[in-house]
Amino acid sequence: MEVKTLLLVFVLAALEVTLASGRDHRPSMPGSPHNISKNDRGLQQVVLNAAYFFNNESNDAFLFKPATIDRAQKQIVKGVRYIADFQISRTVCHKRDKDNNLSRCDFQPPGPLHQVFQCHIDVWMIPWEKPQKKNLNLLCKQ
Ligand SMILES: *[C@@H]1O[C@H](CO)[C@@H](O)[C@H](O)[C@H]1NC(C)=O
Ligand SMILES: *[C@@H]1O[C@H](CO)[C@@H](O)[C@H](O)[C@H]1NC(C)=O
Ligand SMILES: *[C@@H]1O[C@H](CO)[C@@H](O)[C@H](O)[C@H]1NC(C)=O
Repeated sequence: MEVKTLLLVFVLAALEVTLASGRDHRPSMPGSPHNISKNDRGLQQVVLNAAYFFNNESNDAFLFKPATIDRAQKQIVKGVRYIADFQISRTVCHKRDKDNNLSRCDFQPPGPLHQVFQCHIDVWMIPWEKPQKKNLNLLCKQ
């Protein structure tokens, strides 16, 4: 039985991407990392963007999308930092179909194509600066 392990590490700086960060459009007081809700909109956007990165970098035939968020923290430090553990899982959408909408892609049913990766992300960004500064560290493994 083949056990595939995929390790992806991305470190991107000063990337010009429109990574929305929910309602955090103004600087606030610096602090230490604190737990946040899994429904935090900025967090959900960060996790979704991580899935896009994963899909772009992996050579899987199918798209993956976020399944669960296990732990999430946020820190205000010059910009905004998110630290999270989450899972992404293989969907039924083929990567070769260019007009996929990830939110309409169902997860693979139980079976050989069902696969989950555990991911850890540590991303820091300054959402209110144009172009947006961003430093992303994403690690996903089976
Ligand atoms: C933050 O969340 C983690 C994981 O869910 C938990 O173990 C920890 O006790 C929480 N910390 C606080 C201060 O609530
Ligand atoms: C996707 O990957 C290609 C090749 O590695 C890279 O040039 C491109 O910038 C990536 N796009 C995104 C959105 O990460
Ligand atoms: C993807 O589908 C969702 C839900 O149906 C919709 O809200 C969203 O606008 C769609 N996105 C694109 C880029 O079509």
